[in-house]
Amino acid sequence: MSRTDAIDQSLLDWLHHSSLAPHAEKLYKIMKEANQTAEKHGDYPRWQRALAQLPSEPFCSCTLNSSAIGIGHKNDHFDDKQHTQLNSALKSLLPWRKGPFNFFGTYIDSEWRSDWKWDRLKDGISPLQDRTVLDIGCGSGYHCWRMRGAGAKQVVGIDPTILFLMQFRAAQHYIQDDAVQFWPIGVDELPANMSCFDTVFSMGILYHRRSPIDHLLQLHQLLKQGGELVLETLIIQGDQQSCLMPSSRYAKMRNTWFLPSIDMLKIWLKRSGFKHIKILDVTATTPDEQRSTEWMQYESLSDYLDPNDPSLTIEGYPAPLRAVLTANK
Ligand SMILES: C[S@@+](CC[C@H](N)C(=O)[O-])C[C@H]1O[C@@H](n2cnc3c(N)ncnc32)[C@H](O)[C@@H]1O
Repeated sequence: MSRTDAIDQSLLDWLHHSSLAPHAEKLYKIMKEANQTAEKHGDYPRWQRALAQLPSEPFCSCTLNSSAIGIGHKNDHFDDKQHTQLNSALKSLLPWRKGPFNFFGTYIDSEWRSDWKWDRLKDGISPLQDRTVLDIGCGSGYHCWRMRGAGAKQVVGIDPTILFLMQFRAAQHYIQDDAVQFWPIGVDELPANMSCFDTVFSMGILYHRRSPIDHLLQLHQLLKQGGELVLETLIIQGDQQSCLMPSSRYAKMRNTWFLPSIDMLKIWLKRSGFKHIKILDVTATTPDEQRSTEWMQYESLSDYLDPNDPSLTIEGYPAPLRAVLTANK
C-alpha cells in the first residue's frame, strides 16, 4: 500500500468510527478532492519542504490547555543546529495569524492572542468533554487544540486557506493526535443536513458571509438535536433594528457584509431555529490583542483604526466590537 493509500485508508477508518459515519463516503470524496486541490497551490512545494525540515522528536510532551499550545520543551533532545532548523521551518510558514504556539522554546507570537478569545468563552460553553466538535474557519487550528485540551472526543477544523493547513500540520507533526483533524475546505463544501456535531464553533465568520441567515441555518443543520452553537462575531451598539452594512471595506477588510446589534443578532438566531440564546461576552478588540509581531509582519489593527480617534475604523465606522453567544438546536 502506498503512503497516500495508507493516509486515505486512515481517514476513511477515522470517519467510519466517528459520529460522522453516516456521511463517511461523501466526506472522504470531498477531502480527497480538497487535498488534491491543496497540492496545486503555488507555494505548496515550498511549504512541504519546510515541514520536511522539522526535526523529528518521537517522544515530546504537549500541553493543549495552556495559553500557548505547548509542544515539547527547550531542553528536549534538540541540539543548536536542530533548533535553528526548527525556527527556519516555522518561519517559512509566515504569517502566523492565530496562536500562540511554543515549539521546543521557539515561541510563536502570532498576530492574534487567540488565547484571549478562548478565555472569554471557555467557562460559559457546555463542557466539551466527549463531544464531537466542528470549528468553522479554524485558521492555524489553535482553537481546535484548545478544544481537544478541554476534553473534546473529536475535533474537526475546516479552513480553505492552505497556509493554515500547513501550520496545523507543523503542530500535528509533533502532537500526533488523530482526534484532531484539519480539512482544507470551506463551509459550503460540507454535506447538507449533517446533524452530527455536539458543538459547532463559528468564530470570525458571520460578518464575512454575504448571506448571514443562510450561514445560521447551515450551522443549525450541522448540529445534532440539542447541540450547542458557539458564535463569535463583530457587532455594533444599537437596538433590535440596528445593523451596519459597510459601503465597501470595514477596518480595511474586504468581504465584510453585516454587523448587527446584539438584539438584532438574537432575532436572526431565533428565526434560524435556535433556542436558549445566551450572551457570554462583549469586548472591544484592542491593538494589544491583534498586532504585528515578528511572526506576522504585515499591517494589523492599529493600522486599521483612525489615528486621531481609535473608537473609529479608518473608514469612520465604529471600531471592532465582538460578541460571543451560545444557542441550542
Ligand atoms: C477572521 S478568521 C477567524 C479565525 C478563527 N476562527 C478565530 O476566531 O480566531 C476567518 C477564517 O475563516 C477562513 N475562511 C474563509 N472563507 C471560509 C469559508 N468559506 N469557510 C470556512 N472558513 C473560511 C479564513 O481562512 C480565516 O482563517
